[in-house]
Amino acid sequence: MRIILRSDAFSPDFIPPSLPHRDEQLRQLTAYMRGFMDAPGSFYPRAILVGRQGSGKTVTLRTFGGFVKPPIKFAYVSCFINRTFTAIVASLAQQLGIVVPKRGLSRDELVNVFLEQMREKDIYAIIALDDVFNLMPDAISVFIRMGLETDKLGAHRLGLVLVSHTTDFIDALDPSTRGILGKPVVRFPPYTRDQILDILRQRAEIALAPGSYDEDILSMIADITGANGEVANRGDARVALDILYRAANNAESDGANRITPEHVRRASKEVLVGISSDILRGLPLHAKLLLLAIIRSLKSGRSYVTFGEVEDMYEIICEEYGQKPRTHSQLWTYLGELKNKGIIETRLNRKGEGLRGRTTLISIATEPLETLERAVASMAVEELR
Ligand SMILES: Nc1ncnc2c1ncn2[C@@H]1O[C@H](COP(=O)(O)OP(=O)(O)OP(=O)(O)O)[C@@H](O)[C@H]1O
Ligand SMILES: [Mg+2]
Repeated sequence: MRIILRSDAFSPDFIPPSLPHRDEQLRQLTAYMRGFMDAPGSFYPRAILVGRQGSGKTVTLRTFGGFVKPPIKFAYVSCFINRTFTAIVASLAQQLGIVVPKRGLSRDELVNVFLEQMREKDIYAIIALDDVFNLMPDAISVFIRMGLETDKLGAHRLGLVLVSHTTDFIDALDPSTRGILGKPVVRFPPYTRDQILDILRQRAEIALAPGSYDEDILSMIADITGANGEVANRGDARVALDILYRAANNAESDGANRITPEHVRRASKEVLVGISSDILRGLPLHAKLLLLAIIRSLKSGRSYVTFGEVEDMYEIICEEYGQKPRTHSQLWTYLGELKNKGIIETRLNRKGEGLRGRTTLISIATEPLETLERAVASMAVEELR
C-alpha cells in the first residue's frame, strides 16, 4: 500500500506553498530589501537571518528569492557546499551570467573582475550566503564590502543576505566592516510543539495518502520535537519532518495501510538529532569514509578508539568502496574537520590507559552509531553512483 505519494516533498530542496509561522520573518526580510527592490541602485540593503538548525532560515530565504523580480536577480550560495571564496564567487557569477577566470587571480583581482562585469552588464542582484559561519571572517568581510564599491559598480547594484546559527560571526569581523553591516537581524526562534504540528500537517497533506495518518500521529511527533526551553536540538522542523518521512517509510515497508505509533517510535530512533544531515552531506567523500571507519571501529563497544585502528579500518572500507586510500596527512586534516563540525570528539591518551606513547583517541557521543552509519553509508553510496 502506498503511503508516500510525493517523496519529493520530503527532499531538502522542496519549497512548500506557504510557510506556517514564518510570515513575520518573511515580512522583516522583505522590509529590509524593499527599498532596493522598488528603486534598484538607491542604496545597499543588508539582512542577517539568525536561528538554530531547522528553524526555517533556508526555506524562508528561498521563498523570498522567488519574490525577487527583474531587473533584480537573486543568487543563493550555500557556504557548506561551496567552502572557498573562489567557489562562492564562481557560483554567484554563474547564477548572474557573469564570466570570471577560474584561476590565476588574487582575491582582490577576482572581486574587481566580478564588480566590473556587474557594471558592464548592468546587473542588479541580491546575493544570499547561507551558513556563512563556514567562512573565515576576512572572506565574509570581502562580501560585505563589495556592496559599497560604488566606484567600480557605478551604482548600488548589490544587496546582501547572510544566514547563520548565531550572531557570533559578526563579532569576529573587524570593526569597520561590522559598521557597514550593521545589525539588520531577523530572528528565527525554535518552533514550538504547536508550530511543528502545523508544519507536519501541511507536509502530510501534500505528501501522504489521505487516511494513511491521523492527527495523533502528527501530535506524537510534535511532542518529541517541539521546542522545550533551552534544550538543544528541539524546535527543529527538519528533525520532525524526517521522523514523519521515516515513519511513513516504515509503515510502507511493513505493508501497513496507515502509520502507527510504533512506526513513529521506530523512526524517531533512526533520525539524526545532534548532527544535521546537511553537515554530513557536505563532507568530502573521503571524510565520509573516514567517519564510517570511526563508526565501525567504535561498534566494537569501546567508548574510544585510536587513530591507528581507524586508519586500518579506513583502508578496508576504501577497498569495499573501490577507492584509493588518501594519505595519512590528508586523513589527519579530515579528522580535524570532523571534530570542528562537532561530529566526533578527540583527545590525547592519558598515562595509565594502557597505550604506548601519545596517541589520539576518538569518540562519538551525539548519535546512535547505527543511525549515523546508515546515514553516512547511504550518502557515500549516493555520491559514488
Ligand atoms: N515554517 C515552515 N513551514 C514549512 N516547512 C518548514 C518551515 N520551516 C522549516 N520547514 C522545513 O523544515 C526543514 C528545515 O528548514 P530549513 O532548512 O529552512 O532550516 P534552517 O533554519 O535553514 O536550518 P540549518 O541551520 O540547519 O540550515 C526544511 O525541510 C523546511 O522545508
Ligand atoms: Mg539552512
